[in-house]
Amino acid sequence: MKLKIAVLAGDGIGPEISVQGVDVLTAVGEKFGHEVSYKAALCGAAAIDAVGDPFPEETFRTCEEADAVLFSAVGDPKYDNNPSAKVRPEQGLLAMRKKLGLFANIRPVQTFDCLIHKSPLKDELVRGADFICIRELTGGMYFGEKHEGDDMAYDTNKYTRGEVERILKVGYEYALRRNKHLTVVDKANVLASSRLWRKVAQEMAPQYPDVTTDFMYVDNASMRMIQEPRFFDVMVTENTFGDILTDEGSCISGSMGLLPSASTGTGTPVFEPIHGSWPQATGLNIANPLAQILSVAMLLEYFDLKEEGALVREAVDASLEANVRTPEIQVAGGAKYGTREVGQWIVDYIRNK
Ligand code: IPM
Ligand code: MN
Repeated sequence: MKLKIAVLAGDGIGPEISVQGVDVLTAVGEKFGHEVSYKAALCGAAAIDAVGDPFPEETFRTCEEADAVLFSAVGDPKYDNNPSAKVRPEQGLLAMRKKLGLFANIRPVQTFDCLIHKSPLKDELVRGADFICIRELTGGMYFGEKHEGDDMAYDTNKYTRGEVERILKVGYEYALRRNKHLTVVDKANVLASSRLWRKVAQEMAPQYPDVTTDFMYVDNASMRMIQEPRFFDVMVTENTFGDILTDEGSCISGSMGLLPSASTGTGTPVFEPIHGSWPQATGLNIANPLAQILSVAMLLEYFDLKEEGALVREAVDASLEANVRTPEIQVAGGAKYGTREVGQWIVDYIRNK
C-alpha cells in the first residue's frame, strides 16, 4: 500500500514524540512492503511564530493531499494566561478538525496490566476496563455562535439532527464490532440539545437490535467511570462532555502518555495522542512516546492493515513488559530510558520480529 502522511509535530514535546511515531511507521512500512512518504507541516504556536496563523492554508493543503495526518500536540504557556491573545495555538487544532470535517473523535480507554498500580483507582475496580469514548468533534459549544463582551459572554450549544445521527451511527458501528453496548451520555434533564440527542438515539436504536442502548446523564457518567469503569463498552457524547470525560478516562488507565486517538469524518483522518504539549518537558527526552506510537497503530488499523497494527501493539506491550519505560511509569530501581530509547527499542523489536 502507498501511504502519504502529513506530519504535524506542533509544540512542546510534540516534535520529540513525532519522530518516534514516524520511525515506527517507517519500520512497519519496510517490514510489510508499504511505501510510506511524509510531508511535514506547521501548526500550533510553532505556526503562529512562523507565519502568524496556527493552521496555515499550506498546512491545510498538505493535510488534504495526504492519506492520513500524524499529529502530535499543540499549546504554549505564553498564551495560557493571556485571555486577550487574538490567536492561540489551540485554534489551529479546532480549525484542522473543522476544515477536515473530523466529526468523530475516537478515544479508547484501556488499561495495561503492568501499569494498574499507577492508576488512581483500586486494582479491582480498574483491571480489565476497556471502553471507547466517541466524542462529537465539530459541533456544540466549541463551534456554536459566540459573543464575548466585557459584561456578558456566551457560547451556543447547537446540534442539528444530521450531526447527531452521523455520530450516533459511528457509535453503533463500534458497538457492533465490540461488546454491543452503547451508552449515550447527555444532560437531557436540563439541555434542549441533549434532548435532541436522546430523541434521535431512541429513534435509531431499533435499527440496531443487537446493541443494548442506554442513556446516562453526564454527571452520573463521570461518577460511574471511576466507580465502575468496566460498565462501559462504547460511550458516545457531544463535544464538550467528551472533552471532559476523556481526560478523566485517560487518567484512570495509569498514564496519560499511553492513550492514542483517531479523528475521522469526511476528510483526511488524524491520529494523535490524547495528551498535550507538556511544555515543561520540552527537549528533556522524558516524554512517553507510546501514545504517539499507538496512534500509529490506530492509523494502520484504519487502513485495514490489521497485522501491521497488531505488531505495533505487540511491540508496545513488549517494551512495557521489559521495563523499557519512560520515567513516569518506570518501576522503582528500573533502568533509565528516554523518549528516544523507548522509540528505538520498539523500532528494533519490529525490525527483528
Ligand atoms: C482535546 C484538547 C482540545 C479540546 C483543546 C487543546 C482545544 O483539550 O483535544 O481534548 O478541547 O478539544
Ligand atoms: Mn481535552
